[in-house]
Amino acid sequence: MTQTILLLNGPNLNLLGQRQPEIYGHETLEDVARIARDAMAPGFDLRAEQSNHEGQLIDWIHEARHGACGIVMNPGAFTHTSVAILDALNAFEGPVMEVHISNVHKRESFRHHSYVSLRADGVIAGLGVEGYAAAVRRICQLVTA
Ligand code: DQA
Repeated sequence: MTQTILLLNGPNLNLLGQRQPEIYGHETLEDVARIARDAMAPGFDLRAEQSNHEGQLIDWIHEARHGACGIVMNPGAFTHTSVAILDALNAFEGPVMEVHISNVHKRESFRHHSYVSLRADGVIAGLGVEGYAAAVRRICQLVTA
């Protein structure tokens, strides 16, 4: 049976490729979905979603409780602010990988703290969009282990 990985991107990531390319690169969200799909092991499929709204992201995490085996999430700025997203992820039982395109630890100090890291099974930062591929591979490994 095919297992679904949910790929969630948070606020402003719809502008990927246009927004601060010196930090986030030139690849778009479509490129991210392709890179993530290419990294999947056989027997997995990908649902890719992006929203600028915290509640929508939380609703998708709730749906994943019954519809996905793992979550790859770049929560954008909600990483640093959202206890509500942390709570939603805590209600999800499968593996969670947190991805940041930039190296948040090299940036402003407010980006150094992540609520999501309190739940994530792994955190990838600073690998550019290749970080999504690494995260998907890790979810496939953890689910099949
Ligand atoms: C980001 C880093 C966050 O601090 C920022 O708010 C983003 C993107 C990243 O992918 O590097 O929107 O999550």
